[in-house]
Amino acid sequence: MPETTDESTFPFPPGHHGSPPAAYASRRETCPLAPVVLPSGDEALLATTFDDVREVHADSRFTRNLRYPDAPRMLPGSDISDDPHALVNIDPPEHTRLRRIVQSAFTPRRAEAWRPHIQSLAEELLDTIQTGTPPVDLLETFAFPLPINIICRLLGVPSEDSPRFRAWSDTFLSTSTAGAAERTKAGREFAGYVDALITERRRIPGTDLLDELINAHDVDDRLSEDELARMVRGLIVAGHETTGNVIGRGIIALLRHPEQLAALRDDPALLPGAVEEILRVEVPGHGGLLRVATESVALPSGGIVNTGQAVLAPVVAANYDSQHFPNPEAFDILRSGDTKHISFGHGPHFCLGANLARVELQVAIGAVIRSFPKLALACPVEDVPWISGSRICSPAQLPVTW
Ligand code: HEM
Repeated sequence: MPETTDESTFPFPPGHHGSPPAAYASRRETCPLAPVVLPSGDEALLATTFDDVREVHADSRFTRNLRYPDAPRMLPGSDISDDPHALVNIDPPEHTRLRRIVQSAFTPRRAEAWRPHIQSLAEELLDTIQTGTPPVDLLETFAFPLPINIICRLLGVPSEDSPRFRAWSDTFLSTSTAGAAERTKAGREFAGYVDALITERRRIPGTDLLDELINAHDVDDRLSEDELARMVRGLIVAGHETTGNVIGRGIIALLRHPEQLAALRDDPALLPGAVEEILRVEVPGHGGLLRVATESVALPSGGIVNTGQAVLAPVVAANYDSQHFPNPEAFDILRSGDTKHISFGHGPHFCLGANLARVELQVAIGAVIRSFPKLALACPVEDVPWISGSRICSPAQLPVTW
């Protein structure tokens, strides 16, 4: 296996319309598990096959505890791996204890119970858009406000503060546009906001997930004060950022494939399959955080991750593995066979919000299609601006007419 490739600096530039970097496919062919240099300057092995990526996410010999001297980092300075209280940074069995506290709020049944609220909010947002004059940025007016408002309602957080959450999480997720100092400042402001919110809710309790989490600390002693605050911040960010981007990217994908959009309009029963295909190909960024091997692990491709070595397993690379998805570049809402993508991760850190995100995506895409029979991009697709310099790869705007 070659030691390095031409494309040795991560993240690689994305392909057309935010498609995965060509380097994933070329590496998968020639060096499926090979080193990359991260923005921090540290080195990690990059997994590119479906089976390797799934294994890295599932195998308990890979740790998310990167809080030891000289631990590898994705970004220079502080980054997401520093926080000892974030669910995604903790290994089982401690992780299992924390996850149990929130799990029941995100079951398939609870997500379904949110469907009517999501539906009426989607219709409300789209009605407002229709009273305006095209073109309108569908990201700003719909794709983000929908999941932000839902996660705020679910937690019991004032949704009028949602523009601030977006600004803070944009800063956290940036790799090069925001420096370490800016990320630290955004983190402090967000933490101050959430601390104040928890104090206020202790004074005037409610019946939301926020109250359940406060009780898990105050009454049951199952959650420390730091874990409580971190859980709330984590849910606000994770609960809207990716979903908003997938809604936006999904709409662009359908507009780029008018025959599939027409089929979906004719037969709404195709919607769940369409959403799964959108999830397979339209996850923004790379998906999957840095992990370190606690002992030497042989992966299915034959590559070895040695003890102490960092490994990156992007779900996006896995979702384009032709061994798993025939003709992976093709966007096909009627895809048959094994359509099980890995966009929500796998194993202990499998996305907590997957059920909710699926309902949100189904409602959002369905509502847009129904409300706008003549939906079109307001500019040639090549002119849609994309965000660069962020771990999230997404359109900066989604200007549409109807
Ligand atoms: C389309 C939307 C979404 C996608 C593609 C997505 C994807 C992912 C992925 C890939 C992971 C695992 C990361 C890793 O193990 O390295 C993850 C974890 C997580 N996600 Fe999502 N997510 C989405 C929406 C949501 C929503 C709506 C929530 C709201 C609650 C959420 C909350 C979380 C949390 C809390 C974790 C950490 C779980 C743990 O460590 O146990 N996500 N997500």
